[in-house]
Amino acid sequence: MKIAVIGTGYVGLVTGTCFAETGNKVTCIDIDADKVEKLSAGEITIYEPGLEKIFLRNLKEKRLTFTTDLAEGVKDAVIVFLALPTPPGENGAADLRYVLGVASQLGKLLTDYKVVVDKSTVPVGTAEKVQKAIAENFKGEFDVVSNPEFLREGVAVDDFMKPDRVVVGTTSERARKIMTDLYAPFVRQGNPVIFMDEKSAELTKYAANSFLATKISFMNEIAQLCERLGADVDMVRRGIGSDERIGKRFLFPGIGYGGSCFPKDVQALVMSSEEVKYDFKILKAVEQVNELQKLHLLPKIREYFNNDLKGKRFTLWGLAFKPNTDDIREAPALYLADALINEGATIVAFDPEAMPNVKKSVGDRISYAESQYDALNDADALIIATEWSEFRTPDFEIINSKLRNKVIFDGRNLFDVKYISDLGYHYESIGRPIAK
Ligand code: UDX
Repeated sequence: MKIAVIGTGYVGLVTGTCFAETGNKVTCIDIDADKVEKLSAGEITIYEPGLEKIFLRNLKEKRLTFTTDLAEGVKDAVIVFLALPTPPGENGAADLRYVLGVASQLGKLLTDYKVVVDKSTVPVGTAEKVQKAIAENFKGEFDVVSNPEFLREGVAVDDFMKPDRVVVGTTSERARKIMTDLYAPFVRQGNPVIFMDEKSAELTKYAANSFLATKISFMNEIAQLCERLGADVDMVRRGIGSDERIGKRFLFPGIGYGGSCFPKDVQALVMSSEEVKYDFKILKAVEQVNELQKLHLLPKIREYFNNDLKGKRFTLWGLAFKPNTDDIREAPALYLADALINEGATIVAFDPEAMPNVKKSVGDRISYAESQYDALNDADALIIATEWSEFRTPDFEIINSKLRNKVIFDGRNLFDVKYISDLGYHYESIGRPIAK
């Protein structure tokens, strides 16, 4: 099948590459000439494990091409994916400027039937708006379909190739047939393509992310209770997670969720609800809890250092919002670092992938180390903000030799409390007993 993907950001590039991998001929279109040049030359523009290999292979086979020319890019395509940014607008609602702008340009270009697919996370009713924007200029036949993505950064290729489910919102039989054929190779193992109307598909994406965010904020509040009651959240998590109705996954407390999706989508669903005069009370609380959680370690650190952080030097392991990505959007680590710096502390950070992005955004407000151990030199305490695998079983002899005090504040519960207590550390984590 011939496919066009408009927008070569994170979602667009993964989508385009993975469709090429199953034998489709994919043209990716972007207005950023620099990016298109880099991608065409085989230089990948995002960090995503496993993507580069299939990107290069499909580029070589010419199943994957890049252009800035929208007309040329969509000319032969049967399906046109919109993978454009939908940043939060002034009031938190998703800004549809890019999506609708491209839709109206498409209207001027189309000459034959196409399925136009919303892949970006867009508010309920967007398919209808896209339909209208195209129809203003194009009187022929076309369909607009909502097909939200559920990719997780770090495992996006796997999520795309083996999805738990594919959600397709369309009421057109013609579009349904084309989308069924397109996704057939991805659902061979038996996972479903769930067809529904456009609005339900649009809401499904927000509901999924908001529900997952709710799970996290809920566990973060249980962790707060554990700290006050002397219970251990790890035990409670296992105790409830073995109930199949609750499930084991996504129950890990920490210093809050971040990234490009959860904060934005929760906020957008609250806003969309308000537009239809519904007060989404649970989601507002989910947001509030997350805001507080990002600074959950701060009072603990203050208390340990007698409310005087001036001149203190802290090692920060992890800057990315989660492991296996260089993405620092809404990363809890940066909120915490900022708060500590505002109280007069200095931060020496190490992150396996995210340091270049942090340098670009905050420059030398933070110092950067060559390795996780170099970051420890003469530090007053170690703070852990992202659960990269290499932080899980570190060499404690090296840590001992470098840290000024045997003190660790762990925002991701990486270590066993008893083990670290036996090593003589003062160790504070989330929702678990303090080791002194
Ligand atoms: C998420 C959704 O999972 C994905 O389906 C959607 O398409 C995009 O948004 P992503 O943003 O890549 O994907 O991150 P994810 O792995 O879901 O984690 C989100 C945040 O939640 C991270 O900050 C992570 O640290 C936090 N988290 C996750 C927890 O604090 N506890 C958990 O138990 C799980």
